[in-house]
Amino acid sequence: MIYTITLNPALDRTIEIDGLKADDANRIVREARYAGGKGIDCSRAIEELGGESTALGFIGGYDGLELEGRLINEGIICEFTRIGGQTRTNIIIVDHKKKTQIILNAAGPKITPGEIGLFFQKIRSLPLHAEFVIVSGSVPPGVNQHIYAQIITTLNEKGIRVALDADGDLLRYGCGAKPTIIKPNIHEFQRLTGITSTDPTLLVGKAREIVAKGVSMCLISLGAEGIVGVTQDLAFRAIPPQVEVVSHVGAGDSALAGFIVALTKKKDFRQALIMAAAAGSAAVMNPGTALYKKKDVERLKKEVTIEKL
Ligand SMILES: Nc1ncnc2c1ncn2[C@@H]1O[C@H](COP(=O)(O)OP(=O)(O)OP(=O)(O)O)[C@@H](O)[C@H]1O
Ligand SMILES: [Mg+2]
Repeated sequence: MIYTITLNPALDRTIEIDGLKADDANRIVREARYAGGKGIDCSRAIEELGGESTALGFIGGYDGLELEGRLINEGIICEFTRIGGQTRTNIIIVDHKKKTQIILNAAGPKITPGEIGLFFQKIRSLPLHAEFVIVSGSVPPGVNQHIYAQIITTLNEKGIRVALDADGDLLRYGCGAKPTIIKPNIHEFQRLTGITSTDPTLLVGKAREIVAKGVSMCLISLGAEGIVGVTQDLAFRAIPPQVEVVSHVGAGDSALAGFIVALTKKKDFRQALIMAAAAGSAAVMNPGTALYKKKDVERLKKEVTIEKL
């Protein structure tokens, strides 16, 4: 079982209209609702590849219940921690006539210290045979930027491996707690290390400094340029084939999910990196919130090239 943690999930409402008019009533052409969040997307991506995933995090109110119900309907096991606040709703207005998208993101409910305590009880009680825990995305108001570090420390003490995909202080403090894997994209990696170059060989040098401090695998995703993977004694770049880019949404989450599913299927580091590149590029071929199809990942896997760095 692979667990994913989404502390600030959202119910995404996509509203489609033909020409938004101010100070007038607008007719909604189509409306869709979707359970959103980076950890949640990892859960979906894991399921699509035939892995088993359980989603953890905070949900509250009717929107939280709807989010959970939608995930259960997709076959994802949910063990969320209930909160007194309301799960946020993000609104995406797709204007077909103007060919624009207006995205309105809510901050999310304030989490109380008691609710954080309940969540930690939950992760302390995860089964020892849990294969991996993926921690990703931002945190809601009221939650300290050290929380991912504390989650990693708690799980490391239990001997459960953690993969971290975050930005800023969440990533910086998280690295200090020695997660097994980190998966920043190039911008997040540059903010973390201060490096300005995107040259893969220079990235390896910086990644090795992080590995020396106790992170076992450092994966840096480079969009269409692929993904660099570094351990103490290995360094590769997996380069995906050129694909038709429809939407970038969830490429990073898909790549990380592909990497972890491969590891849990006893693939080696190099093979897992190929899987990550294939999964990420399969995700960009699909529109909007749709991630990837397993058959695309399997096909693209054969077209990924790998270079030793
Ligand atoms: N334009 C593209 N063409 C082919 N593959 C791509 C493209 N963009 C991304 N990918 C694949 O997806 C992987 C992850 O992409 P990226 O580096 O954009 O992640 P990210 O910025 O973390 O994304 P996210 O917004 O989901 O967090 C890449 O390593 C690559 O394999
Ligand atoms: Mg990302």
